[in-house]
Amino acid sequence: MMAMLVVLACGEAPCDVPNTADLQPGEQTGPAMRPGSNCLRCHTTGGRAASAPFSIGGTVYESHDAEVCGGVGGVTVRVTDANGKRVSVVTNDVGNFWSTEPLVAPYSLEVERAGRVAAMPVTTPTGGCALCHSWPDPVSAIGRIRAP
Ligand code: HEC
Ligand code: HEC
Repeated sequence: MMAMLVVLACGEAPCDVPNTADLQPGEQTGPAMRPGSNCLRCHTTGGRAASAPFSIGGTVYESHDAEVCGGVGGVTVRVTDANGKRVSVVTNDVGNFWSTEPLVAPYSLEVERAGRVAAMPVTTPTGGCALCHSWPDPVSAIGRIRAP
């Protein structure tokens, strides 16, 4: 576990805050919060943001090892759930995306930018992408989710 001590400004909300399960004093919540983090750590039943549960949530970057504030907007993230239900969301200015649509795991994922598509070669039992797609400590994945 890395201790991140530097807090940088990124748009309106700080984009690099200590990766704890609790909010920092005065931390802004909302669409631009905590890029690169595992949104579902809080945005789930019983979590800190249980009032706003997500089925999927994460951040898309230019590269697997991009710095945490370098998320990419305008990238489509498509999920297909176990029942074949498909949901599409588009990343915002800080690269964040999420869905509150109820979905059944496991999930198949792909991301698309300007007609270029990258599909995840495996399915995942969780929609908290940064559980695996974290950097510099990815789990099974190569690193951050990369825009194709
Ligand atoms: C440390 C816990 C935590 C993490 C991690 C976290 N959030 Fe949040 N988020 C919150 C809290 C708390 C709120 C406020 C919920 C409320 O108003 O009841 C919130 C609110 C939001 C809202 C507004 C929801 C609404 O209905 O008003 C969005 C959008 C959001 N977060 C996106 C994200 C995204 C995207 C990520 C991951 C990149 C993320 N959050 C990661 C705790 C977290
Ligand atoms: C349980 C671990 C895990 C979770 C959670 C996970 N992934 Fe993946 N993902 C992988 C692995 C393993 C690969 C293949 C190695 C790689 O490309 O990093 C991969 C690859 C990908 C790729 C292809 C990467 C490329 O550069 O071509 C995309 C796109 C992707 N994942 C999107 C997502 C999205 C979106 C989420 C969240 C909704 C997610 N993944 C959640 C493990 C995971």
